[in-house]
Amino acid sequence: MDYSLLWLDWKPKGLLPSYVNCICGLPATRQGKAAMRELISGLQAMGASPEICGSRSSVVPAITLKEYLGKDEKVCIRRCGDGIEISGTGQGLLYGVFRFLRHLAMGEEFPEWESSPAYPIRMLDHWDNADGSIERGYAGLSFFFVNGKPVCTERTRDYARLMASCGLNGCCINNVNVHGNALKLLTGSYKRELRRIAQCLAEYGVSLWLSVSFSAPMELGGLPTADPLDADVCQWWKDTCRQLFTSIPNLAGFLVKADSEGRPGPHSYGRSQAEGANMLADAVRPFGGRILWRCFVYYCTQDWRDTKTDRARAQCDHFAPLDGQFRENVYLQLKNGPVDFQIREPVSPLLGHLEHTASLMEFQIAQEYTGQQRHVCYLIPMFREILDFRFRSRPEKDKTSERISAICAVSNTGDDFNWTGHDLAAANFFGFGLLSWDPTADPEAIAKEWSILTFGDDPAVTETVTGILMRSRSVYEKYTSPLGIGWMCVPGTHYGPSPEGYEFDRWGTYLRANHLEIGVERGPEGTGYTEQYSPELAAMYRDIGTCPEELLLFFHRVPYAYRMKDGRTLLQRIYDDHFEGYEEAEAMSDAWDRLEGKLEDGVFRRVQERLRIQLRSAAEWRDVVNTWLYRLTMIPDEKGRKIYP
Ligand code: GCU
Repeated sequence: MDYSLLWLDWKPKGLLPSYVNCICGLPATRQGKAAMRELISGLQAMGASPEICGSRSSVVPAITLKEYLGKDEKVCIRRCGDGIEISGTGQGLLYGVFRFLRHLAMGEEFPEWESSPAYPIRMLDHWDNADGSIERGYAGLSFFFVNGKPVCTERTRDYARLMASCGLNGCCINNVNVHGNALKLLTGSYKRELRRIAQCLAEYGVSLWLSVSFSAPMELGGLPTADPLDADVCQWWKDTCRQLFTSIPNLAGFLVKADSEGRPGPHSYGRSQAEGANMLADAVRPFGGRILWRCFVYYCTQDWRDTKTDRARAQCDHFAPLDGQFRENVYLQLKNGPVDFQIREPVSPLLGHLEHTASLMEFQIAQEYTGQQRHVCYLIPMFREILDFRFRSRPEKDKTSERISAICAVSNTGDDFNWTGHDLAAANFFGFGLLSWDPTADPEAIAKEWSILTFGDDPAVTETVTGILMRSRSVYEKYTSPLGIGWMCVPGTHYGPSPEGYEFDRWGTYLRANHLEIGVERGPEGTGYTEQYSPELAAMYRDIGTCPEELLLFFHRVPYAYRMKDGRTLLQRIYDDHFEGYEEAEAMSDAWDRLEGKLEDGVFRRVQERLRIQLRSAAEWRDVVNTWLYRLTMIPDEKGRKIYP
């Protein structure tokens, strides 16, 4: 096998409870059978020799698997005599088995547990292209597409196992920017391959989704238009969907990036986003299909001289007025922040406006702006913060986690041996899964569990790995873009520092720094973005004194001499963060070095090498940002540390 099994590589355990030696139950469905298989092989890998004892044992303590039929994903684990019973429906049973195995591997007493997932759709979006490359992919090539065609291999199955083991139940296999052969996924050309992938995923309760191009009726159907109100266009989609959905039983629906960064969409025909999405929703509805309609619609040919147009406002400006106009099977898919997966952004205000529309929050575990899986950046604490964010507009359904109806993340996997390039980046895959099932899960407990499952239970390893993961986001934030300003990265690649790289470009990504001040004024005097929140939040963000400091430069244009709450000037705070960020990255790298001999050598070296790469990059970020600010302001660092004049 040319890849690792990540956290599913169960390791032998010394002491196991006696009930693991007998397994009862006769699951009937394919998922139930998969659950049984996983239970047996997991226990065997941990050193047990379970016997299969039919439907129920009254003689010896046993693990009983009980499968209920139904569409929901409930799961219950309870004590049953001297043994235990794991019962559930659909993917719930599978998740219960994996959860049980995880606990066993952790060496913990299993608590009685009853659960159902917070969201019916918990998915990963792959930005894989048909030619095998991956847009913003940092872990090798696609394992879904090889040489222009979809493929189903043993790895597809193991990927489905990984998904199910952490609670994920859907995956969109192709890039939202649909081009080349990926266009043809809609036609019959790859029916056989898609069917195989779908079946393989279905065994583990994972549905298949496809990204489609809004102008497919022109690109594939030879029609002169893709106008969503054109009768031929509607018919083309209906016919295409009938063929596709009837040949791929496990197809759940389409993901659509329309009118976004040059992609075709309903705006080209003077139609609204709702008219576009609804037309597709009608075409997939007879097959139980759903449309995930992305809200990443903004003006991407902006003039930097224009200080009124604000990319951050775009989501709300476009979609808030359309609330209630979408069909029931349309989910608006919005990125967690109003701009684009920066290390620090406020929560998208659009969620506060969607009262009658289903929404799906999109996170990004592909670390496009957060170190590209060369830097360690454990994102789960940040996701948890976002899910806990309160909109403060009404007592119930106030938190992000309660307002959204579904959840997804842009995947960080590829065909690298370790799936995620950086071995520690797999914690984001695992953690996102757990959080998608239970948005109140504790990020630190997840990190610890992931570490034990992946690297074994040596306490020194667990403590070091958990420590590195838990610090990593703050460390990354300190040595990169300060206080929510974002966009100091190299244009195009988005890796490494280039403070003014995006300043005079067309993407609406400006810092507006001069020798006196820095930041974007988004209060009523500026772009007015703050007013997209509820009155209470708007008041908080609007006022520089109550605006959370970590978002200061996202919301305001601030003089360098501005006093932060702790008395430091803004500029000094930025200098300090950059020096500290580097030192903390160095401490993480040193901590890892002390694990030599405690980990499998390949893992130890791979991570060590990446931490060194991170350290070099952190030094570059520190020096470039500090020097750039020093040269602008000519104000020295109070502590006299090295800045390049
Ligand atoms: C970012 C990213 C693109 C991607 C886009 C999207 O802008 O850099 O590669 O296509 O987001 O989310 O659609």
